[in-house]
Amino acid sequence: MSAIRFEPSSSLKPKPDESNLEFGKTFTDHMFLLDYTEGKGWHDPRIVPYGPLTLDPAAMVFHYGQAIFEGLKAFRSKDNKILLFRPDKNAQRMNVSNDRLSIPEMDEEAFVEYVKALINVDRDWVPSAEGTSLYIRPFIMAVEPCLGVRASKQYVFAIIMSPVGAYYKEGIHPVKISVESHYVRAVRGGTGFAKTAGNYSSGIKAQEEAKHGGFAQVLWLDGKEHAYIEEVGSMNIFFKIDGEVVTPELNGSILAGVTRDSVIRLLNDWGIPFSERRISIQEIYEASQQGKLEEAFGTGTAAVISPVGELHWLEHTMKINEGRTGEISQKIYDTITGIQNGKLEDSYGWNVLV
Ligand code: COI
Repeated sequence: MSAIRFEPSSSLKPKPDESNLEFGKTFTDHMFLLDYTEGKGWHDPRIVPYGPLTLDPAAMVFHYGQAIFEGLKAFRSKDNKILLFRPDKNAQRMNVSNDRLSIPEMDEEAFVEYVKALINVDRDWVPSAEGTSLYIRPFIMAVEPCLGVRASKQYVFAIIMSPVGAYYKEGIHPVKISVESHYVRAVRGGTGFAKTAGNYSSGIKAQEEAKHGGFAQVLWLDGKEHAYIEEVGSMNIFFKIDGEVVTPELNGSILAGVTRDSVIRLLNDWGIPFSERRISIQEIYEASQQGKLEEAFGTGTAAVISPVGELHWLEHTMKINEGRTGEISQKIYDTITGIQNGKLEDSYGWNVLV
């Protein structure tokens, strides 16, 4: 890994009010950049003042969407340590996304070192108030100026960082979710398992329609039969049905969430009955009619744990746990955030000290 060049910002920005952080609106003083050129590989790592990028209007990312991203968080512990949560998992997943989008692989250890180096420069930006963190957004875009449809021969890898509070205004309070029965997010053989920009842009229309109906997000069903549950807009989804926690199995069209993986580890260690399997929306509806749908919650880096208090599917309204946060959702939230911010022992070795 070549040395990282550092160009400090000459005008540091004021820090935002930690009690009022809107997700992804404020950015730290610096950003990380790395170039890729065919024949040369990834080169010229640098930390520079945060600011606009200049790209050729023919840069391939604008035309064919060859772009991927990651999301991870750093936390400030009570004793002022900075803890990064499972960055190795993001590095691995980024290469899975790279492979699907024909973007060259990146060294996973270098990825973690670049993230740590940028946090180190902007350490003062890691917030300390309850429920806050520094959200880190690494991303890659195709920058070769060319209108031919093929893999780009030039890329930029960038990392930007934003101090954040809760992703949903509801925080740990249950959200209302609408089951999407018209649009689909992904199909097998497509890009559903990759963290690519196109998966999110194609979901915006459904999300907007859901927002108009008063819902925080949509729950996607499978693209073929419109029958099986996949994931929520920006989260994986779990249900507790008659004492067992279930989540859709990774089938090629669902994102392998880092929080999803962490939740599964906790459930297994706590001895809570759990399975990853195909789950139909009909099964969820029937469980709710029989009083067996005990909890539902989304999991994601940005959202952490987001309990679902109400699900709407066609003409049906399913109230879950009387709209209150369930016991398991709360326990998982407390445990994961407790490990992340150093209040609980990290027996899994998930935290990386910066
Ligand atoms: C994350 O949870 O990190 C995500 O990437 C979801 C997002 C699109 C806000």
